[in-house]
Amino acid sequence: LIQPVVLSGGSGTRLWPLSREKYPKQLLPLIGEDSLLQATVRRVEGIAGVELAAPMVVCNEEYRFVIAEQMRLMGKPGTVVLEPLGRNTAPALTIAAHAAIKNGADPVLLVMPADHVIMDGAAFRVAVVKGAQLAQEGAVVTFGITPDAPETGYGYIQSGAAFGADGAKQIARFVEKPDLQTAQAYLDEGTYSWNSGLFMMKASVWLAAMERCRPDIAQACATAWSEGRADGEFVRVGKEAFSACPSDSIDYAVMERLAGQGGAVLEGLPTGVVIPLSAGWSDVGAWEALWNVLPKDDAGNVAQGDVLMQDSRNTLALSEGRLIACVGVDDLIVVETADAILVAHKNKTQDVKKIVDRLKQAG
Ligand code: GDD
Ligand code: MG
Repeated sequence: LIQPVVLSGGSGTRLWPLSREKYPKQLLPLIGEDSLLQATVRRVEGIAGVELAAPMVVCNEEYRFVIAEQMRLMGKPGTVVLEPLGRNTAPALTIAAHAAIKNGADPVLLVMPADHVIMDGAAFRVAVVKGAQLAQEGAVVTFGITPDAPETGYGYIQSGAAFGADGAKQIARFVEKPDLQTAQAYLDEGTYSWNSGLFMMKASVWLAAMERCRPDIAQACATAWSEGRADGEFVRVGKEAFSACPSDSIDYAVMERLAGQGGAVLEGLPTGVVIPLSAGWSDVGAWEALWNVLPKDDAGNVAQGDVLMQDSRNTLALSEGRLIACVGVDDLIVVETADAILVAHKNKTQDVKKIVDRLKQAG
């Protein structure tokens, strides 16, 4: 049994003015008609030869209605687990593991960020089938992306010895968010991949790993879960216990310490495995990344909504209402919404965050 778990936190400020606090990027239809969250839920459909549980989404209380509605519209009601506040991904997954263990079942969790794009769903599903088998045997499975830049916002996974068949490798080293110099060294080294942020492991394996690595978080989550309440499709965790839970990410709390790695590793942790994933993955952190994954015309342009392009190249223009006309421009991002217009150079879209910060300061 595979239990899809969708983690939906974060607000994606670099995709302003489309992504807003009230409407973060995973809830927007950035690609096609589905929101990124809906596309994530849909992507697991049709995984060959496995039993799939109804999807589980873990999110903040604030987004419950939008998320429940988006799932209903797809005919995939599932479970929506509500956090009173964000404690990062390690507690979110620990709560999900508690929620998944029921009626004597101990499913393999398929952990998916809600805000990623995967263009090749079929390749993704093949990788998941491989991962399910290794996870069933007790491993913690990650999916590695071939890196093409020294990105500092990702985890880096060094591949070790082959693990079973099918190209899976034991994790020789997992380093979360290295500095630029280190990231460049890993890139030059050639044995590292980016961590995609997708994971698979049995629910009980995750709980035991957390118990070993972060007993404080494990304890707080166990209490928060035991004090939880179901309310229709929603499950609310105990507010006081969850608020008292320390913050940490899956990557720092557990992944960096899995068995088989050098350095300060704890005894008694499961083996980490990395499966290569070549499926048009992007975490669409910024507008440039979105331009990268979207289908383009012959001139490299992406036009959504009411847009006219004249002698323009490699430009993304997205209109929610008014007509956008681009004449003789290259490498631009133009986004029109009711109350704001963004015009940015495609190489500078990381800095959109600076505008959002200034807007926040100005109140
Ligand atoms: N429910 C819930 N609660 N979800 C959360 C929370 C939380 O408190 N915090 C983050 N999430 C969700 C985010 O919405 C996202 O979908 C996913 O969990 C990962 O969190 P990010 O905050 O986006 O992590 P990151 O991008 O810094 O790093 C992770 O992803 C990279 C790939 O995109 C790590 O796993 C890296 O190693 C990895 O390379
Ligand atoms: Mg992310």
